[in-house]
Amino acid sequence: FRHEHPERAGIMKILLVGSGGREHALASSISASALVEELVIAPGSDAMADLGKCVPVAADDVEGLTELAVNLAADLVVIGPEVPLVLGLADSLADNNIAAFGPSRVAAQLEGSKAFAREVCQRHNIPQPAFAVVRNEDEARQKIDTMGEGCVVKADGLAAGKGVFVCDTAEDAKKAAAEMLGGRFGAASQQVLIEERMVGPEASLFALVDGADCLFMASAQDHKRAFDQDQGPNTGGMGAISPAPRLDDALRDQVMTEIVEPLARGMADEGTPYRGVIYVGLMLTTTGPKVVEFNCRFGDPEAQVILPRLKTDLVTAMLAVVEGGLGHFSMRWDERSAVTVVMAAKGYPGPYSKGSEIRGLKEAARHKDTLIFHAGTMIDKDDNVLANGGRVLAVTGLGGDGASARQTAYDAIGCIDWPDGFFRTDIAKG
Ligand code: GLY
Repeated sequence: FRHEHPERAGIMKILLVGSGGREHALASSISASALVEELVIAPGSDAMADLGKCVPVAADDVEGLTELAVNLAADLVVIGPEVPLVLGLADSLADNNIAAFGPSRVAAQLEGSKAFAREVCQRHNIPQPAFAVVRNEDEARQKIDTMGEGCVVKADGLAAGKGVFVCDTAEDAKKAAAEMLGGRFGAASQQVLIEERMVGPEASLFALVDGADCLFMASAQDHKRAFDQDQGPNTGGMGAISPAPRLDDALRDQVMTEIVEPLARGMADEGTPYRGVIYVGLMLTTTGPKVVEFNCRFGDPEAQVILPRLKTDLVTAMLAVVEGGLGHFSMRWDERSAVTVVMAAKGYPGPYSKGSEIRGLKEAARHKDTLIFHAGTMIDKDDNVLANGGRVLAVTGLGGDGASARQTAYDAIGCIDWPDGFFRTDIAKG
């Protein structure tokens, strides 16, 4: 692990915000851009230190990050995670004439408030399940009874991926709603959504939006449960594949026309234009694709399968978003598939321990078409890599199709010696 930074001939100073596997993938793509002169990452991680200078400012410290961007005279700030977006980092940077890749605080409500997102979709006829927003238990019980057996109960605000309960019975739904309204997620569950339960395979679509125009990027599918065969608790994501096998070109076009374009137009017409990458979580129902949720940033680990497939310079694409030039922009993609497998600390998403050593990473990285992204590691003074988080690594393989990409990723994992970690063996299988 080198810590000297490559000599760069570009002209731009870029500040990247975040520290996880998604940000490691972003840092790799940004670092490869011909436009970049200097890359600073806040807070970054030891594994990113050979791609850019890591500065210890937390990803949710809007004031500290704004000050850092001003002091650096950053030409562009790339915001990885949702929390600083929802807190208004892009607005704070704009107040200081600094461009950000990522939506404003209001536009980021598409992720920060599930009610806001549903209401926007309703106003613009974007396909989605029936829903109701409730503020007390009586209302919740009443809406659950009208929804029929089985519904989804969601906290309105950000709950670190834990705020969604898919319930089989009305009784379970009432219990979940009561817990949430009783303060389980603090301010994030003061309002709760009761939604019709949709059936079908899930997939995600990623598109760039520049306030007016939008451009399809890629599709992906992640695996949220901790263990094989979708067993165990929900996690942030244990692996992903891109393109999503079930999202063919016709469905992609349908999602762009029926969801992304009306959303971009609607947000602009309402005076809250969306700029950045939009992550559309979809349910592919028998009556067409419908919105499960929006996220206002790249997914993690979806970024670890999408960005390695992008052949166009990522920074030029981000500039097209910031400058409103998407209407005249196109991207080139590697036609191959990418599969990433997350290695997590035993116990995740519950309690886990930190500090165990991970061996064999250099051997794994030498495999052809393999990329190793660090989500939660630290590197000690002897260059040993130690686990330092729940999700710890994302091992990405590229291949002519999903099966060969999958094989590449698992071959590389086979070299990694980490007795305190675990991973799913069925990512992108079948
Ligand atoms: N992998 C799901 C997410 O990033 O929210």
